[in-house]
Amino acid sequence: MSEIDALKLQLESLQSEALAAFSAADSLNDLQALRVSYLGKKGALTEVLKGVGKLPPEDRPVIGKFVNQTKQALAAALDATEAELAVKAKSARIESEKVDVSLPGRSGPKGALHPVQQGLDELTAIFVQMGFDVAEGPEIEDEFHNFDALNIPPEHPARAMHDTFFIKDMRNADGTEPMLLRTHTSPVQIRAMKRFLAEGGEPPLAVVAPGRVYRCDYDVTHSPMFHQVEVFKVDHDVSLSHLKGVLQYFLSAYFEKDVAIRLRPHYFPFTEPSAEVDIGCVFCAGKGCRICKGSGWIEVLGSGMIHPNVLKSVGIDAGEFSGFAFGLGVERMVMLKQGIPDLRLFFENDVRFLSRMGVAK
Ligand code: DAH
Repeated sequence: MSEIDALKLQLESLQSEALAAFSAADSLNDLQALRVSYLGKKGALTEVLKGVGKLPPEDRPVIGKFVNQTKQALAAALDATEAELAVKAKSARIESEKVDVSLPGRSGPKGALHPVQQGLDELTAIFVQMGFDVAEGPEIEDEFHNFDALNIPPEHPARAMHDTFFIKDMRNADGTEPMLLRTHTSPVQIRAMKRFLAEGGEPPLAVVAPGRVYRCDYDVTHSPMFHQVEVFKVDHDVSLSHLKGVLQYFLSAYFEKDVAIRLRPHYFPFTEPSAEVDIGCVFCAGKGCRICKGSGWIEVLGSGMIHPNVLKSVGIDAGEFSGFAFGLGVERMVMLKQGIPDLRLFFENDVRFLSRMGVAK
């Protein structure tokens, strides 16, 4: 066989071997390696070209043309395979990164209202539904609204009972009185009545006032900050039976059952007569248990008929109008309804407790 035929044969077999290798390549990296091994400086084709030098000069252009054709054929095949592999790689990536947008999302832990806030809202809503207006007052109060206007004069022992937090170096606008953290929501009675009259209102006036209060006290049933709801109504001929009727309705609505109630005579400076209100024990249905200390009754709030001096302090004619009022501790009500033994649990914010109360899920 002539030298030139042998070279042609070599080129043909190189081409077919290369084309088979290209189509077997399954990654762009493999293909790049093949490109180098066939067309690179030290590649197979260069190797063949070395043989061309040994040919007689007249044969060289013939085989040179053949080598070029082979080179072009391989380069074209490499480019085509490369394009194919690039498309395949892209669709493989799309496939691997595919997300199912129709799947439901993963949700994180959900929060909810604090049990005390839930209690405040629940209690307030009962009165709103009965037609009472909601009023709020400041947590930083002056002595007039927290005490004097509520018929608690400066030297009255009831002031001492309130364990008041006074605010150091802070006095009211005209500098005559120290300021304090309100010890109860009863001052909202005074503020709401004054506001109502200033706006030209005439009784009837029925108000529910939820809010935060402060006393220097801390144990199983007391916290220095707690919440109260104050309720009152002023009109012509408001009587103790109105008070009792509202209490009966409200306490049954809150505890979601017919609760027995009793009014026990008591003393509050801002009401006359005054009564503490008990409900039949919600734990033993009045039979007597550890929680009601065997009595079958549990004290839930303080109440009474608004003292004439209180009405007078805001300029309401106590001869013409009368009113009832009561005030309750929100934490205590929530504890009784949910069977919570220690008031401090509300403020420690232990998620195990809060999630049982439906706060964190
Ligand atoms: N303000 C009283 C307290 O915090 C609660 C109270 C008692 C409110 C009797 C009233 C009431 O309106 O009539 O201890």
